[in-house]
Amino acid sequence: MLPNQDLFKNVISHSKEYGFVFPSSEIYDGLSAVYDYGQNGVELKNNLRTYWWKAMVQMNENIVGLDSAIFMHPKIWKASGHVDGFNDPMIDNKDSNKRYRADSLIEEAVDLYREQGNHERAQQIQERMESYLRDENMEGLRELIVEAKILCPISGTGNWTEVRQFNLMFSTQMGSLAEDAAEIYLRPETAQGIFVNFLNVQKSGRMKIPFGIAQTGKAFRNEVIARQFIMRMREFEQMEMQFFVRPGTEMEWFRHWKDTRLKWHLAMGSDPSSYRFHDHIKLAHYANAATDIEFNFPFGFKEVEGIHSRTDFDLSQHQKFSGKKLQYFDAEVGQNYIPFVIETSIGLDRLFLLTLCNAYKLEDLSQENKTDDRVVLAIHPTLAPVKAAILPLTKKDGLPQAASRIMDDLKLDFNLQYEEKDSIGKRYRRQDAIGTPFCITVDYESLSDESVTIRYRDSMQQERVPVSRLQKIISEKVSWSTLLN
Ligand code: GAP
Repeated sequence: MLPNQDLFKNVISHSKEYGFVFPSSEIYDGLSAVYDYGQNGVELKNNLRTYWWKAMVQMNENIVGLDSAIFMHPKIWKASGHVDGFNDPMIDNKDSNKRYRADSLIEEAVDLYREQGNHERAQQIQERMESYLRDENMEGLRELIVEAKILCPISGTGNWTEVRQFNLMFSTQMGSLAEDAAEIYLRPETAQGIFVNFLNVQKSGRMKIPFGIAQTGKAFRNEVIARQFIMRMREFEQMEMQFFVRPGTEMEWFRHWKDTRLKWHLAMGSDPSSYRFHDHIKLAHYANAATDIEFNFPFGFKEVEGIHSRTDFDLSQHQKFSGKKLQYFDAEVGQNYIPFVIETSIGLDRLFLLTLCNAYKLEDLSQENKTDDRVVLAIHPTLAPVKAAILPLTKKDGLPQAASRIMDDLKLDFNLQYEEKDSIGKRYRRQDAIGTPFCITVDYESLSDESVTIRYRDSMQQERVPVSRLQKIISEKVSWSTLLN
């Protein structure tokens, strides 16, 4: 097994080398914390999104989808609390001109004290930081940075500016003339698009509580520090579901969604010990329960999904700010009320990173009398970007034509790749590296007996099978029923 640091480095370079993830605008030296998905990345991302959509929308009769716009009325972000409260405390070093999140600098110092065995000091600093953050005491945070002798990693000095609150929303102007253009925001979460459409969906779909609305889409946050590859990005994609329930039943539904969402993660084949819940002790003012599903990334356990019991906060705020009633008449109890909400919110890019970290394996094949190592992405076959590779043994004697016929028969149902360059061994390795579960080799015998060799990614076993059976063999392994039932 690779040490964690190497694993992470390998995953990042592998992603680029094999067309999964590229830095955005790379030929112009890149754009910080923005990434593009390449030819294999886009397939994997689509499959992960489909897995989520099928599990949430298709498999639940009481959950429907939505695709709301990225631009929304600016008042929405006032109502949701994002204009006033969606901030990170930031500090600049005057010598290096580098900007940092004040709390991240302090957390790094806390980790260092812990590593040095000075647990008491670490605890003191941690507690003071939490109390200053809670009270929005920016001066206190600065004092703590100075007292803890935290230095800028670039300039090596402690020449710091004041700590200021920095709003994470990106804004732009809507309207053609400067004088009547309105400032609007790029949404920092998809959830608010669901809240403001609650009544539209409920009435047009005649939805009865409990019911959910799900959507996937881009969100934007001007993160002060963006690092760890696609873990923290400025443009990313969320998959969120708001589940509307009768007040008083929210804890039961909170437990239900906690359980259901963890099962969904584990069905992809991860080791259960790679996951844990982090229940929030200190809750946001609008929540009465919250937990994170954390995954053991190469850099430690980190949040991949949040499950929040958000009470009636969001709908009440929108009712107040819009002046429109956002109530539901519950015929079973004969009452009008603002429903309570359980939210499940997962970042698609983080899920993508999780999938790659989980799947990346550097195998030493020396035991099997093979001289080389192989890199294999052991992605669940249903999620793999390419389902099968069609490989004519040589480029002549009618083998490419026979391979193309197989390709034509299967390509409507499966994403396939055709490759005729290089030795068959090299082609197998390239397919292993992108996680293709099946390699189908067309050889001279195939021309006379209509059979091919199928080689399985994980076991590297090979089997001779009739061409007529390929459809069934592949279908069985890549069907959505292997993940959902
Ligand atoms: N509506 C609730 C909400 O947005 P959040 O914890 O801020 O909650 C939910 O975000 C999920 O979105 C996170 O668990 C994470 O997977 C993903 N996410 C948040 N910020 C991100 C960023 N800057 N880059 C990538 N993913 C991010």
